[in-house]
Amino acid sequence: MVIQLISVHGLFRGGKLEIGRDADNGGQIIYVMELARALSEHPDVTKVYLFTRRIDDPTVEKIYAEPVEEISEKFEIRRVWCGGKKYLVKEQLWPSLDEFVTNTIQMIKSDGLTIDWIHSHYADAGYVAAELSAYLHLPFAHSAHSLGRPKLEKLVDSGMSKQESFQRYQFEQRFAAEESVLANSEFVVTSTAREISLFSDYSNDHLAEYHVIPPGIDFERFHPYFDDLFDTNQKPLEEKQAMQNLVERMQVFLKEPTKPMILAVCRPDRKKNIDGLIHAYGSDPELQALANLVIFAGIRGDITNMPDGAREVLTEILLLMDKYNLYGKIAIPKDHDSKFEVPELYRHCARLKGVFVNIALTEPFGLTLLEATACGCPVVATNHGGPTEILPKCKNGTLVEPTDTAEIQKALRDILIDQEHWKELSAGGVRNVLENFGWPTHVETYLKIVRANRESSSGFGIKNINKIPVVQQRLKVSNRMLVSDIDGTLINENGDYQGLDELKDLLKHRDNDFIFGLATGRSLELTREIIREFDVPDPDFVICSVGSYIYYGLEENLIDKGWEQFISYNWNRDRITDALRDVRGITPQEPDRQNNYKISYYICSDEFNLEELQETLRPLMRRMNLVVSRNAYVDILPKRCSKGRAVRYLSQKWAVPLSNTVVAGDTGNDLDMFQGSARGVIVNNYSKDLDVLKGTRNNYFADNISAQGILEGLRHFQFIES
Ligand code: GLC
Repeated sequence: MVIQLISVHGLFRGGKLEIGRDADNGGQIIYVMELARALSEHPDVTKVYLFTRRIDDPTVEKIYAEPVEEISEKFEIRRVWCGGKKYLVKEQLWPSLDEFVTNTIQMIKSDGLTIDWIHSHYADAGYVAAELSAYLHLPFAHSAHSLGRPKLEKLVDSGMSKQESFQRYQFEQRFAAEESVLANSEFVVTSTAREISLFSDYSNDHLAEYHVIPPGIDFERFHPYFDDLFDTNQKPLEEKQAMQNLVERMQVFLKEPTKPMILAVCRPDRKKNIDGLIHAYGSDPELQALANLVIFAGIRGDITNMPDGAREVLTEILLLMDKYNLYGKIAIPKDHDSKFEVPELYRHCARLKGVFVNIALTEPFGLTLLEATACGCPVVATNHGGPTEILPKCKNGTLVEPTDTAEIQKALRDILIDQEHWKELSAGGVRNVLENFGWPTHVETYLKIVRANRESSSGFGIKNINKIPVVQQRLKVSNRMLVSDIDGTLINENGDYQGLDELKDLLKHRDNDFIFGLATGRSLELTREIIREFDVPDPDFVICSVGSYIYYGLEENLIDKGWEQFISYNWNRDRITDALRDVRGITPQEPDRQNNYKISYYICSDEFNLEELQETLRPLMRRMNLVVSRNAYVDILPKRCSKGRAVRYLSQKWAVPLSNTVVAGDTGNDLDMFQGSARGVIVNNYSKDLDVLKGTRNNYFADNISAQGILEGLRHFQFIES
């Protein structure tokens, strides 16, 4: 099985991860990298591709501009462009995600990657995965990592207005993506059972299937203290150094640094309840006699310059230390290096027969508890959130009510006093955490669910199985295409159907031999009508309304959003309709021939004067594309929109070279299809709009009209045999 992981924002690389650089480089980055590694090490997985954003920006390392980084034989990071070259925070990426989709499809197809299963991380990747899944007929699963709705609630509670929250965090797009993921993914993976309840705020909550699979931890870094008890010489230099630093730092704060420690490691956040811990310690002389209190609360410089929340918490810590007169008994170092120092700190705590504490008011998961346990620390943990699922499995400590001071004190004393109990919790914890929370265990459980899903749905995932037309499969494999206009070209409504039956037969039996697309001035509905009337085989795609929309298949209503995003640039429909109100000789077409990106008129009298029209539109020309056909129709489209551009876009997206593409047409709205490097067939009944193409390379003027002319052109270009 080949697995594609998608994690759009943040910085991924094989070398040292830049954890803590900003809010986009936190737990999710570690999670995804470790998951990818563990998946790639499983014998049932042949390859893992981690797709992320490509960044070429002097403020970040060069490696992030590399499209491919091989991490191991079975694991590659793949980077695609999206939203320009600069490093951007995740909120800024929403408008460009369709570009991520387009470029991913292009990379998959042009590099010949075969993918069996997609897994997205966070809502932005969820959006991408839902799109890819539809385009490529592939199932996907999703991990949220965090959710928009609870976040909005928190922001509003903390005083930010709804309007500002929506603007700052792009909630509209995020909610839509989260809803789409719930509706379309095969299943959603959460770290805890509690996390599932957070989805109840979403309307598609009931459409999703949830599986709780806790993340694994990195046992290489978080190994037990007794592993190296006997063999200090074999410790890596960095670990030795970290240990040395730690011992020295503790001596600065503590009168008796070799006494057991009560250790807390967390962000300086009110929810973490650090003040609750100091109250418990400060008001219990027995506890103070038994152990020191050591608190690593993030990294701080000048407290007065820190954000409000952190400043308040840190100030409170210092005031409480003073209030309870804890000098010599409490250590609050200013910083730590998380890579080596934190694991070493846990082991140091375990060696001194200490206890790790996390009594947050609520803890979503509690990864630090697992890491401390893996190093050999017994724990005292909050009974709100993730720990209630961790402790029963690990049997590594005591759950407490975080607001109950006496209960906290008792739990700590019990473990610190009873040596036998301490040993049991420490050794049992190490064993159980390995068994329940290793990445190999996570991967094993995950793959079992994936396998069950694939088996129950003939390999495609239950939800996706009926979603994609078979015709579209061709886009994934074929590297040739024929794109034809309809009226006058494919079908000649003057009653001259020469060659139509032969062409229909050819299309019907095309298998995966070539892709067949339509490019027409008609809307999708009007296209459907005529294609059904003449019983033409279904096209793989339709470029309709003179390029303003691209649909896959005829009936599926699967729209190419990447194209829509691309053409919408600089478009202002109202300004154009306003400007044209008083132009002579044209009258608006019916409403069903207009759309968001197409303004159409009939030329209705001799009063019409092209130069006058162009003059009126001159100030807007930068934003639009004016197309006149058969001296009968006027279409105004966004600058980037035309049938020809759409053909070139599709050729790029689906990696079909233009040199393998034949386009056929007969009038003005076909003109720019003939101006690229595709092979052009101009059928004999063409209108004089196309006279300008005489003598151009790549274009063939057929002797026959309509379908017969197309066939003639296909033979001319050896697209089919003579
Ligand atoms: C089709 C469309 C019409 C358009 C014309 C030329 O007839 O229905 O809206 O103006 O093609 O592109």
